[in-house]
Amino acid sequence: MSESETTAEQAAREQELTDRVIASFDHTRNPRLRYLLQTLVRYAHAYVREVRLTEEEWNAWIGFLTDVGRITTDWRQEFVLLSDVLGVSMQTIAVNNEAYNDATEATVLGPFFVNDAPFVELGDDIGGGAPGEPCWVEGSVRDTSGNPIPNARIEVWEADDEGLYDIQHDDGRVYGRAHLFSDVNGEYHFWALSPTPYPIPDDGPVGKLLDAVDRTPYRAPHLHFMVTADGYRTLVTHIFVRGDEHLATDSVFGVRDSLIKEFASHPGGDPTPDGRDLGDATWRDVRFDIVLAPRDFRTA
Ligand code: BEZ
Ligand code: FE
Repeated sequence: MSESETTAEQAAREQELTDRVIASFDHTRNPRLRYLLQTLVRYAHAYVREVRLTEEEWNAWIGFLTDVGRITTDWRQEFVLLSDVLGVSMQTIAVNNEAYNDATEATVLGPFFVNDAPFVELGDDIGGGAPGEPCWVEGSVRDTSGNPIPNARIEVWEADDEGLYDIQHDDGRVYGRAHLFSDVNGEYHFWALSPTPYPIPDDGPVGKLLDAVDRTPYRAPHLHFMVTADGYRTLVTHIFVRGDEHLATDSVFGVRDSLIKEFASHPGGDPTPDGRDLGDATWRDVRFDIVLAPRDFRTA
């Protein structure tokens, strides 16, 4: 039975309950908390009523959320993963990173960022010995008027060529991550690895959910950035590889057209931008010009 097929009397009974629950929060001292809870109840009740949720289905949801909680640890945040695959993380990012002129778009942070990644000088290799194809990354950090932003802190992190981040190896290795600073002209460059596709952790309830709905757990290959500079909105983003087959099906909806970049392939022996000798190894290069929004542009 659909919601529209219920009798007027039944609909009134259901609405009366929703109204009563919403009213139970009327005296919440914090107005924002009151608004968050009353709106949550309104949507949750609307969902139950619209889909005519059976008690069996309600139990299945509770069992699923219980499993999400059971697998969650300090290192494994299955609730965030659930938010990611439902697109809730990206929607929250969209709401909180309103487009401002041509400022670079934000995307998900993901679970593999680590504070205090090693410092590297401009031109160094953030790979730190991780296996993978070398990739030269260069670009600039500017404001929305085109002025260079010197000394911006640029955090970068990425998976190795097996699709694993260092912290997934359980042996304390540190590779594929670093921080560096833009120079006086706002320019930066470093060596990294060409990004590879990898699945989000899919051995838990979220993985089962994706399997049940025939969705891939794979993320489109990417290189993570977090860019901070005084007076500017912190940018958390990635760049993606143009032409990659996973772009349209990224499991966490993180891809934005403006973040898809050309990772040009070079045969072994091609001279590298900084004269590094890579022998016969193939390599790539990519340019990513970053534009930061002012921190408080809404109040400016
Ligand atoms: C990642 O990019 O590393 C990631 C993002 C969201 C969920 C899982 C992984
Ligand atoms: Fe990632």
